[in-house]
Amino acid sequence: MHDRVSGRPSTHAALAFYDDQQPPAGDFLADVLDGFSRTPKQLTPVYFYDAKGSAIFDEITALPEYYVTRTELGILDQIGSELAALAGPGAVVIEPGSGSSVKIRKLLDALSVPAAYVGLDISGEHLESACQEIAADYPNLQVGAICADFTEGLDLKHLTLESGRRIIFFPGSTIGNFEPEGARALLSGFRKAMRPGDAVLIGADRVKDADRLVAAYDDKAGVTARFNLNLIDRINDELGGTIDASALRHKAIWNAEKARIEMHLIAIRDLHFTVSGHEFQLREGESIHTENSHKFTPESFTSLAKSVGFDVLQTWSDPADLFTLHWLEPAAKA
Ligand code: AVI
Repeated sequence: MHDRVSGRPSTHAALAFYDDQQPPAGDFLADVLDGFSRTPKQLTPVYFYDAKGSAIFDEITALPEYYVTRTELGILDQIGSELAALAGPGAVVIEPGSGSSVKIRKLLDALSVPAAYVGLDISGEHLESACQEIAADYPNLQVGAICADFTEGLDLKHLTLESGRRIIFFPGSTIGNFEPEGARALLSGFRKAMRPGDAVLIGADRVKDADRLVAAYDDKAGVTARFNLNLIDRINDELGGTIDASALRHKAIWNAEKARIEMHLIAIRDLHFTVSGHEFQLREGESIHTENSHKFTPESFTSLAKSVGFDVLQTWSDPADLFTLHWLEPAAKA
């Protein structure tokens, strides 16, 4: 077998294909300098997920306050037979940002003889290990991998595994980490890559009581605070930063107008620091805005989906209406 783009003999032996679309590596330094030059200062959440940040995120998913992961898993447990009926036999499951290993297994287990799983991720290393694990656990499934930046649209033209419907699986309410414009662009990118009959199964966290939301992003054990502050450690370690992390406090705020939880790092005293020789200041009380996590109502999510040419065929919630999964299909008259 050969890699599709490089043409070199593949080392991805257990995979049906490996399509390396050679996404450009993110420029951490340029993004940090740009974000620190803005008012208020901001950092982009994509840099949360180095090995340490990903391990801390796994801890978050098990926190008593962070209902998101366990609620979505509970819904998946309940709706397996409905998903099997909607997807039909021989589905190809495509997972942008592959790695939600427990959730993807629940979906694959629920479906009726799925034909293939295709992971898609910007990190080749992460993608390969996630796909190899699926291949090992599902010997009857064709498993392929696409190394690409899914925020730039989905290029599925090398996906020649012919079979049933293609299901794009995007759980976790990751859609909420995009600004409204970015969320529309992302869904529109999915929509453009889809054929009639294909579908998106997507998770969206719901608007709810502000105290419950804030607690989910500012847990008692301080795990989310560590997750947030890990960004500062990365800047200090990888970009020669001199930020005194002990002078920053994690804060989660519910912004009702924008229907989002915001994570910030607030300076508890005036700070002067450098990043790769560039000088910055933070005044006491000033914030570095590190993440947005937008929350939806079934109506606000439906209007987002409709605005980019989807119909929402099904919406499932848990009994407490904390979280929803939506089944989207290209609108009949898109
Ligand atoms: C990955 N994403 C959906 C998480 C969220 O809930 O917005 C990231 C997160 N940040 C803090 N806790 C969890």
